[in-house]
Amino acid sequence: KEAKLWGGRFEESVTDAVERFTESISFDKALYKHDIMGSKAHASMLAKQGLITVNDRDSIHEGLSEIERRIESGEFEWRTDREDVHMNIEAALTDLIGEPAKKLHTARSRNDQVLTDFRLWIRDAIDAIGVKIKYLQVSLVKLAMKNEGVIVPGYTHLQRAQPVLLQHLLLAFVEQLERDAGRLLDCRVRLNFCPLGACALAGTGLPIDRFMTSDALEFTAPMRNSIDAVSDRDFVMEFLSANAITSIHLSRLGEEWVLWASEEFGFITPSDKVSTGSSIMPQKKNPDPMELVRGKSARVVGDLVTLLTLCKGLPLAYNRDLQEDKEPVFDSVKTILGMLEVSAEFAQNITFNRERIQKSLPAGHLDATTLADYLGIPFRTSHDIVGRAVAVCVSKGCELQALSVDELKSIDPVFEKDVYEFLGVENAVKKFSSYGSTGSACVASQLDHWVTKLEIN
Ligand code: ARG
Repeated sequence: KEAKLWGGRFEESVTDAVERFTESISFDKALYKHDIMGSKAHASMLAKQGLITVNDRDSIHEGLSEIERRIESGEFEWRTDREDVHMNIEAALTDLIGEPAKKLHTARSRNDQVLTDFRLWIRDAIDAIGVKIKYLQVSLVKLAMKNEGVIVPGYTHLQRAQPVLLQHLLLAFVEQLERDAGRLLDCRVRLNFCPLGACALAGTGLPIDRFMTSDALEFTAPMRNSIDAVSDRDFVMEFLSANAITSIHLSRLGEEWVLWASEEFGFITPSDKVSTGSSIMPQKKNPDPMELVRGKSARVVGDLVTLLTLCKGLPLAYNRDLQEDKEPVFDSVKTILGMLEVSAEFAQNITFNRERIQKSLPAGHLDATTLADYLGIPFRTSHDIVGRAVAVCVSKGCELQALSVDELKSIDPVFEKDVYEFLGVENAVKKFSSYGSTGSACVASQLDHWVTKLEIN
């Protein structure tokens, strides 16, 4: 058996079970690129500070580049007995270039190293998720553009409430996604500080330059407190929270579309490209992708809960428990990227059944609130009067606009002939004019905003 990098004080080797239980190479090899990037910056800094020679630095750089090449071509052998990504790369570097590699870990611990890698990795993940969020926003805006003027029932309590423009509704999701992207960017700003040089927890007496490595890795600045640097995972929790919130937005979008695709609603028809069938019922065509978007939000929320639970009660500073912070992050990122991509493809592959929607609009007295707004008497009173008119409709099984002026007047003399200008969903929708409302001018300006902001066309 090869001696451990940390083996000096040990007389016996760990059992196979302990080795298997404590390894992280099976998952943290995903950090290799950022680990190599961090090591190169560290070696450059050590050389500049005179802690290693320029020749050492150059052979470390060349060796690390060769290792990166081998990893990417699949030639690199990841070894469980070398525990994690940091020691796999360092040991392989020693195999490759010998003595100079043994100087690389000067003024560095795996505790600050792993956090440097992880912050860099999450920074890239944030950028990748941002791209996918925008892709979904663009898909939703384009879907809205294809459906100008379509009125749909708006719901509260899943009961028909007021008529809204379909564009207005689709743009609501675009707004939510914009805040999701914003939360990730906020998180990126806060996480972008460099832990490298915090070493195990106390820093070092060697004359390192933490500002140099921080700059080289495009961090804003080195972290001020070495104990904080190696102990906290708030940036991970914040990132996973942002993903969890995004996943809940996507889950609600999924639920909306699953509902709309049902026979009962029949508002949308997803194309075959985004539907799957049943192994027993030959007629079935199911909106599985959006059901799974809804379902997979559970994992993303679970990943956050894992991190919160992991960190609760840990004493300062580094604890090995913290190795468990990686897999939830990898899972969260993989899942959220898939959810965003599939939601965008779904948006690109649905058609709204305008006739069916149109036919359903008279149901549910969607125009009642507009009518109440227009009676020109105290709102509480008009609410009551329109409520009584609705009750008459319910007993007769008709819509408000089917009541005659005489019938309306017998409910209350306030009704005049002009009442019909406010009745019917088309009339009702036209009356909206407040900022952010479903009025067509307001929705058109929302749409303009997004077309410009998202650089569509
Ligand atoms: N694989 C470890 C982790 O992910 C790296 C840090 C290990 N540090 C230590 N002192 N054992 O947390």
